[in-house]
Amino acid sequence: PKDVGILALEVYFPAQYVEQAELERYDGVEAGKYTRGLGQQQMGFCAAHEDINSLCLTVVQRLVERGRLSWDAIGRLEVGTETVIDKSKAVKTVLMELFRDSGNSDVEGIDTTNACYGGTASLFNAAAWVESSAWDGRYAVVVCGDIAVYATGNARPTGGAGAIAMLVGPNAPLVLERGLRGTHMEHAYDFYKPDLASEYPVVDGPLSIQCYLRALDRCYAVYRRKAESQRQQGERCHRGPFTLDDFKFLIFHTPFCKLVQKSVGRLLLNDFLAAPNPDTSGGLYKGLQPFRGVKLEDTYTSKEVEKAFQAASQEIFNQKTKPSLLLSSRNGNMYTPSMYGCLASLLAQCSAQDLAGSRIGAFSYGSGLAASMFSLRVSQDASPGSPLDKLLSSLADLPTRLDARKRVAPQDFAEIMKRREETHHLANHTPHGSHTDLFPGTWYLERVDDKYRRQYARK
Ligand code: ACO
Repeated sequence: PKDVGILALEVYFPAQYVEQAELERYDGVEAGKYTRGLGQQQMGFCAAHEDINSLCLTVVQRLVERGRLSWDAIGRLEVGTETVIDKSKAVKTVLMELFRDSGNSDVEGIDTTNACYGGTASLFNAAAWVESSAWDGRYAVVVCGDIAVYATGNARPTGGAGAIAMLVGPNAPLVLERGLRGTHMEHAYDFYKPDLASEYPVVDGPLSIQCYLRALDRCYAVYRRKAESQRQQGERCHRGPFTLDDFKFLIFHTPFCKLVQKSVGRLLLNDFLAAPNPDTSGGLYKGLQPFRGVKLEDTYTSKEVEKAFQAASQEIFNQKTKPSLLLSSRNGNMYTPSMYGCLASLLAQCSAQDLAGSRIGAFSYGSGLAASMFSLRVSQDASPGSPLDKLLSSLADLPTRLDARKRVAPQDFAEIMKRREETHHLANHTPHGSHTDLFPGTWYLERVDDKYRRQYARK
């Protein structure tokens, strides 16, 4: 099969949110800390009657219904999530309920977990299946979903929730570029969930940011090396190093938007240090001469380096990355779907002409840690009715859908979080939450019985 990649993409986010500026006042922190300091505008959240299964049920059904697909046409479905509600039973098996009437049970794939990286691992697996001898000609579906909640304190404003489903197959408008992947994995305790009775992680915020930036450096170095060697083997012998210029767009796993802006600066620092003779008298690298001798590993906490390269990369950020942050700034960190939400935002915010033929660089990060940089090539054909045109039209209503959500006061949000804590993992109960607060077509948790079996209904 040729041009394996993403054919369609469906996004689900909760129908309610809290305003970050109001949360600043409620939490008693300085005005601007969450909004300007972290770059977050709003945060989506779920009441107790939404769980990881309901989120994924909703997004998969939406993908199939809106794409007018047949349930028989799917031969693989896998889920990337870190929202564990059962140590044995996969979310994937719950999703098989959607296939029941079709009679199709020949569907490979289960769940994959490593913090925010599970969606990317699932996408790589799905593409590998389509390119393998095991492929039976049908589509693969990749689902990523999470409910990202933190205990009260400085991490709480970096939560979020949502799910994304992607249809994977050949002749895609977004092709996974072959051979172009840079991965970095290591052992770190930056963010993890050792308390199985709680929804909240244990997080070392400053360490997690250092880990993220180090993983970014390492992945970019490997990606760039592979891209350069591919270029040299190509017909047109392209000289010179690979730089950010070679990506038209850049998307990132987005714990909060400010970190992504800093990451663009960080990539520019990588380019600057790799350039044989950077011109610091004018242009992009103007005034950066004092940083010529720095070592990447010594700069993770340097405010001077961060400031200088953030300023130098401002225009690159505005052009290549800013349009991708719509969902992240208004719904927050969805964990596994975060970067795919950036992809959806980019497709919703840019014109077909801008996107056609472009290369999108993508950086996925999951604490613990697992990270990859890879790229998507957008098809040239954006004509009406083309797969790219269909994909873009399906996402065009993203801003309107965000506007249609209900704003909830911070004290009510805090109350709902408390209820989630109290009822998390409780047997024999009816979860709190009104289904009038959900978007039409949303699945919700109706009841947990005395054997922890969960029952769902659809609005
Ligand atoms: N106006 C403008 N900016 C302000 C204000 C203000 N009034 N007050 C503070 N700020 C800025 C700070 O200067 C800082 O910006 P800087 O880093 O650019 O200097 C920013 O707001 C954050 O403030 P801090 O005091 O540094 O951070 P805080 O202790 O609030 O914690 C953190 C932030 C670490 C991100 C926390 O929210 C957290 O732990 N989140 C979860 C972990 C996370 O998301 N990690 C990222 C990778 S791992 C993953 O994806 C889960």
